[in-house]
Amino acid sequence: MADMENEIQRLKEDNGEERKIYRERFERHLDELRWLYMELYDNGSMFAELCAQMESFFAERKEVLKAADLEREKKKDWYKQNDMLGMMFYIDNFAGNMQGVKSRLNYIEKCNVNYIHLMPFLDTTEGRSDGGYAISDFRKVQEKLGTMEDLEDLTAACHKKGIHVCMDFVMNHTSEDHEWAKKARQGDGEYMSRYFFFADPDLPNQYERTVPQVFPTTAPGTFTWFQDVKHYVMTTFYPYQWDLNYRNPRVFNEMMYNFLYLANRGIDIFRIDAVPYIWKELNTSCRNLPQVHGIVRMMRMISEIVCPGVLLLGEVVMEPDKVVPYFGTVEKPECHMLYNVTTMATTWHTVATRDVRLLKKQLDIVNSLPKEYVFLNYLRCHDDIGWGLDYKTLGEEGIGECSHKKYLNDYFQGLTGESNSRGELYNADPLTGDARFCGTTASMCGIEKAGFERDGGAMEQAIRLDIMLHAYMFMQSGIPVLYSGDEVGQVNDYTYKENPAKVSDSRYLHRGKMDWRLAENSSDAGTVAGKIFLGLHRLEQIRKTEKAFVSGANVWTVETGDNGVLCIGREAEGEKVIGLFNFSEYDKTVTPRTIEGKYEDMISGREWQGGEIHIPAYGFYYLKGKP
Ligand code: GLC
Repeated sequence: MADMENEIQRLKEDNGEERKIYRERFERHLDELRWLYMELYDNGSMFAELCAQMESFFAERKEVLKAADLEREKKKDWYKQNDMLGMMFYIDNFAGNMQGVKSRLNYIEKCNVNYIHLMPFLDTTEGRSDGGYAISDFRKVQEKLGTMEDLEDLTAACHKKGIHVCMDFVMNHTSEDHEWAKKARQGDGEYMSRYFFFADPDLPNQYERTVPQVFPTTAPGTFTWFQDVKHYVMTTFYPYQWDLNYRNPRVFNEMMYNFLYLANRGIDIFRIDAVPYIWKELNTSCRNLPQVHGIVRMMRMISEIVCPGVLLLGEVVMEPDKVVPYFGTVEKPECHMLYNVTTMATTWHTVATRDVRLLKKQLDIVNSLPKEYVFLNYLRCHDDIGWGLDYKTLGEEGIGECSHKKYLNDYFQGLTGESNSRGELYNADPLTGDARFCGTTASMCGIEKAGFERDGGAMEQAIRLDIMLHAYMFMQSGIPVLYSGDEVGQVNDYTYKENPAKVSDSRYLHRGKMDWRLAENSSDAGTVAGKIFLGLHRLEQIRKTEKAFVSGANVWTVETGDNGVLCIGREAEGEKVIGLFNFSEYDKTVTPRTIEGKYEDMISGREWQGGEIHIPAYGFYYLKGKP
């Protein structure tokens, strides 16, 4: 903190020094940035405009943010520490509005959370918002949530407490109510060229042949016919979300200005929404095209020049070989962080099958990647769970993709005998039989069912599963993120069915309002909420004090000889932690291989000398290696 104050003072006193810093950053990236820009746009005057704007955004950036940039530039690994723990929430659901969030920062701290993801809060049209992912003004906060000043006030309050703030940057599309879309709809060619407009169906039809659908049931197809302008518009997501055309340099430039404007409001982390979709090409799937990587790389350089303290988090909900390229290379990095989506889906597969083999294989893949790559780990988010598993490996066991997806969907809906889960399908496609799944962690673990049936034994088991899953998630390589409410075992919210604007989108099932009555019980070990909260709290404390949990730690899996039990090891700076996780409802006795030496159970303090170990149903151990 004192360092930062000095830095601010220095910047204030020495204007020339500040300009020098900017110039150095700029020159470091200029050649590559220009090369990429010209390759894509071949437009020198637009590039010059971009450079001039970057400089003005830097000039406008507050000293306190510039000082944080300098600190973070010096300490490049600042976000890879073991105390990083995220929480995501919708502002209105969590605390009404931005000022409400500010007044709840103590609770956030109590949760050991130092990074909050504020779900979309920019202006959007109620009822046609896709949970806020259809933005009508990138420089205006939704009125019900506050103002830009409130946002700056909130980010500043967070920074004082060492909490980082993340927001969505929805760059693939705008709402049909965005000023550009309105002008395009009036037939203004300049604005039409910022989207994809087609007067006749030929090209849309040609695209449809190779572009898979995102929302096959709730918003089928990739184009929407608008009778008023007599044109088809590309709408990959909902018909009111119009895809932006990044072939037009005006679109790229303006979106970068929006990005820098928001960075200057004090945002630390940008979640680049739906990033694989931003470049479209006929006869392709319109996903993950090389130009997307060029654009993300440019965005990374632009932020390293203007606001190097800012992180890019890519939302790439794809199979692993499509995800990893978004990190870029060590010399030419793109995103700082990516979601560990396949691991998340594979976790729930493991819950349903009580067979950790696929998960172990998946963790081995992630663990073998360079340590620079930081994954965000989560059990669930605001979106559905898509069953993107490694079906090639499952196929070797005779498990087919279609039948297995059906099994998982049945299981988590609670339709099979041994399941205690509750939840609903999402975008069930009647043609392919495909469907994704919605539910909160607690409901999927059996807490909703046990509560409803007032079954104490089942509740204990559900709580054990819930805490074990978090314990395992905290052991993964990367940064864990909780969905608010999960820390107190909040269950599914069925009230969305009464809201006409939400009823057709079952993702609202797990986006309920934060139940503060549960949070009031968070210290009461006699309540369900308290048991989960205190259980997680203990793990969070361990995680943030033990060196073995830093992001750059060595992480590996160990064979336990039992398909129901997963073993993960972590080591950093000579300190070692072994985690054992029983994914089955039976007590197990296992002998993990290749574990030598003495260990201490970090929760009970008991010693373990290697050899056999007994793990209760849905139980786990964090074992610390003793010197
Ligand atoms: C992302 C969001 C999702 C939204 C979509 C379209 O995938 O997570 O909620 O529907 O983008 O913006």
